[in-house]
Amino acid sequence: MNAPPKVMLVFGTRPEAIKMAPVYHALRDSSDFQTIACVTAQHRQMLDQVLQTFGVVPDIDLDLMKPEQDLFDVTTSVLMGMRDVFSLHRPDVVLVHGDTTTTLTTSMAAFYAGVPVGHVEAGLRTHNIYAPFPEEFNRQVTSKLTRWHFAPTPFSKQNLLAENVPDENITVTGNTVIDALFWVLDRIEAEFERRSAIVNFLNEHLRFNWRETRFVLVTGHRRENFGDGFLQICEAIKEVADRYPAVHFVYPVHLNPNVQRPVQEILSGLDNVHLVDPLDYEPFVYLLKHSYLVLTDSGGIQEEAPSLGKPVLVMRDVTERPEAVDAGTVRLVGARCQPIVENICELLDNQASYRSMARAHNPYGDGKACARIIKVLKKI
Ligand code: UD1
Ligand code: UDP
Repeated sequence: MNAPPKVMLVFGTRPEAIKMAPVYHALRDSSDFQTIACVTAQHRQMLDQVLQTFGVVPDIDLDLMKPEQDLFDVTTSVLMGMRDVFSLHRPDVVLVHGDTTTTLTTSMAAFYAGVPVGHVEAGLRTHNIYAPFPEEFNRQVTSKLTRWHFAPTPFSKQNLLAENVPDENITVTGNTVIDALFWVLDRIEAEFERRSAIVNFLNEHLRFNWRETRFVLVTGHRRENFGDGFLQICEAIKEVADRYPAVHFVYPVHLNPNVQRPVQEILSGLDNVHLVDPLDYEPFVYLLKHSYLVLTDSGGIQEEAPSLGKPVLVMRDVTERPEAVDAGTVRLVGARCQPIVENICELLDNQASYRSMARAHNPYGDGKACARIIKVLKKI
């Protein structure tokens, strides 16, 4: 009898880990595969938070994060690290996720080593390699190196077809983030003690009655917003916080120093702006559920928030996730102070506008994406 195929998952940052965790468990639960989890640790603390929440135990950890690393650092460390990993473990398939430097560089290493690639969350496009930078370039090139494309939506499948990817190599799966989100929400709902621990944690870290008060949940980290973009974003938050003292802002600040510096400088010390460390996924999702609206430049949150019926103002000029924009829950506002201020104020003041955006729907999946991925992998 042949040994089951060796499937290696490789990921390195917080969002990849959240979206790969359910794939890891689905593979591990099946006797049809030997599963190897390899983390590059492009992120360290923010990755470890996710590994712990989802009970993912890496078999290989390249532990490569360095403070203030740049794209050259990450690219070279992943490439050299994965050369050794592939030569030692010889997987039959490597699964990568999304559009980070870990994703692209692992796919390149796999190409050099002759290992076929499965790409989870394939086919997202803005068609501008500078927005988001460098992610749009990363995902376009990863597609060139991919054998099995797991597209989250029919729209992302169309993007791949337009680039001449053969139809038979593409499967529309839904986004695995919805699998992760439902898994976590069900667990919070089912376990009273877990829920109490989350509430106690949030009570300790937020100095206002967050369950009874309108608050805006903020996140941001895009490279193209570094510098002037972040200054404008922070000035906008400051202006609205000043105008509406009864409305609060909760901002778990990304650990990238390019984000920490302006955010701490402009926003610390304001009574109704709460700067906290990046949150574990469970308290984050619980807060998202209780928030009034979301202000973000994140990719994953654009997918999660519609599922919870939360309006999202996206601080970018373009998005590779047009589905929720078309459905009306997500609005692009850019990273300039006045449009951000005007859009937040409109949603605070105008209930008709707010209601038209606050509609729960799931354009990104039904929570069964992993099952569809496994079905394809069983045929290889
Ligand atoms: C990376 C990804 C981006 C993804 C984002 C998710 C690339 C080029 N960028 O951006 O696509 O959307 O992660 O958050 O792949 N840091 C820590 N601890 C951590 C994480 C980061 O201290 O746990 C600090 C370090 O100083 C590190 C810096 O942040 O050097 C930058 O991390 P890096 O992964 O290079 O970039 P991100 O902006 O996090
Ligand atoms: N997230 C989290 N804790 C936080 C902020 C975000 O767990 O304090 C989750 C969020 O729910 C989403 C993911 O992290 O699933 C998004 O990560 P990020 O914004 O860093 O990356 P992107 O999605 O933009 O690549």
